[in-house]
Amino acid sequence: MNKYRVVVVGMGKRGMHHALAFQANGRFDVAGVCDVDQTRLDAAAAKFGGIKGTDALQVASAVQPDVFCFCTLPRLRAEMIRIGIESGARLIAFEKPVALTSREGLAIGEILAKRGVKAVVSHQHRYGEHYRKVKEIIASGALGRIHTVYGTASGWMMHMLSHLIDYMRWFNSETEAQWVMAQAAGEGKMSDAHPSPDYIGGFLQFANGVRGVVECGAGAPDVPEVDYWWRKCRIGAQGTNGFAEVLTGGGWRAVTKNGASAGEGCMNYDRDMPPYIQEIADWLDDDRKVHSCNFESAYAGFEIMMALCRSAAEGGQVALPLNDAGDEVELLKAYLAGRKALASTAANAKEYGLTSPVLKPAAV
Ligand SMILES: NC(=O)c1ccc[n+]([C@@H]2O[C@H](COP(=O)([O-])OP(=O)(O)OC[C@H]3O[C@@H](n4cnc5c(N)ncnc54)[C@H](O)[C@@H]3O)[C@@H](O)[C@H]2O)c1
Repeated sequence: MNKYRVVVVGMGKRGMHHALAFQANGRFDVAGVCDVDQTRLDAAAAKFGGIKGTDALQVASAVQPDVFCFCTLPRLRAEMIRIGIESGARLIAFEKPVALTSREGLAIGEILAKRGVKAVVSHQHRYGEHYRKVKEIIASGALGRIHTVYGTASGWMMHMLSHLIDYMRWFNSETEAQWVMAQAAGEGKMSDAHPSPDYIGGFLQFANGVRGVVECGAGAPDVPEVDYWWRKCRIGAQGTNGFAEVLTGGGWRAVTKNGASAGEGCMNYDRDMPPYIQEIADWLDDDRKVHSCNFESAYAGFEIMMALCRSAAEGGQVALPLNDAGDEVELLKAYLAGRKALASTAANAKEYGLTSPVLKPAAV
C-alpha cells in the first residue's frame, strides 16, 4: 500500500510531535518540512529528509502532499488552510485553536466545505486513558441522566479553552449549544501570542438541556491533586446518579450508585499522538471512518469559545450558531482595557503578574 505523503509546516514543539508521529505510523511519509526559522528547519530536515524550505506554498507545491499539516502559532490559520487547499491535499491537519476570531473561523469553514477537503484539529488529550475512562463511564449510563458538564484550567483561554470545550462537548455526546453567557477580566495576556483575557468564566446551554460551566485563567480554581501548572485542568460530568471527572495531570475518579472508583492517567504526547495520527489514515482510507477530531466538531467548540468572548465583551446571552463574522480579539481588547483580574492561587498570581491572594489553610 502506498504511503500517504505529508508536509509539516512549523517545526516547533507541536510540529515535531506531529512529524515524529506521522513517521512512526508506517502509513505516512514525511515528504516535506517547512519553517521560517532556518535552524529549526535544518534540524527537522536532518531528521525526516524530503523537501525543505522556509516558504510553505513552495514546499507544498513541490511535494503535492496527501496531508498538509501545519503547527504554527494561532495568528496563522486561514493563509495556511488556503496553501493546503492549493497544494491539492486531501486532508489538512492543524493545531487548536481553530482561529482567533469568528471572521477567520467562518472563512476557514466555508473554504473547506466548498473545496470538499477533510480537516482535523488537534484536541488529542481525549486519547488519554483517563479521558477515555470518563467518557466510557458516561456512555455506560452509570451516571444516570447527565445534567451538567464542566471544565476548568489555570492556563489562558487561547491555549486551554479550546481543549476544555471539546471534551465537555464529547462528554455531552457532541450536542449543539444554544446559547452562552460569560464574564472576563484582565488584559495582561491579550498581548500574548495566544491573546486571551487573563480570566474568563461562563455558562453554556446545550440543546439537550445540559448545562455547561467553564472557567479558564487567573481566577480559575486550583486543582490541588495535580502539581504541574499547565495540567491543572478538571473536566467532568454530573448526572442524576453520580459524577465522573478527569484531571489532565491526575487520573480520573467517579461516584455512581455502585460506589466510588478512581484510576491513573496523565496527559502524554507520546501516547496521545499515535491514535490521533492513525485516525487520519483511517479517514483517508474510508470516508465513513470520520476522525474523532474532525473539523466540524472542533468548529462547534470554536463557535462556543467565540460566543463566550462576545458575551464577555458585550454582555448578555449570545445565541448559537454565530451567523455573522466578528473580531472577538478586538472586542475583548476594548472591553478589558485598564481592567485587572484577581488571582485565585499564588501560582496563578505569579503567571499572570497579579497580587497573590491571602488564603486561609484549606480544610481537609
Ligand atoms: N494540542 C496541544 O496539546 C497543543 C500543545 C501546545 C501547543 N499547541 C498549539 O500548537 C500551535 C503551535 O504551538 P508550538 O508550541 O508548537 O509553537 P512553536 O513556537 O514551538 O512552533 C511554531 C513554529 O512555527 C514556525 N513558523 C511561524 N511562522 C511560520 C510560517 N509562516 N511558515 C512556517 N513556519 C512558521 C515558527 O518558526 C516555529 O518554529 C499553537 O497553535 C498552540 O496553541 C497545541
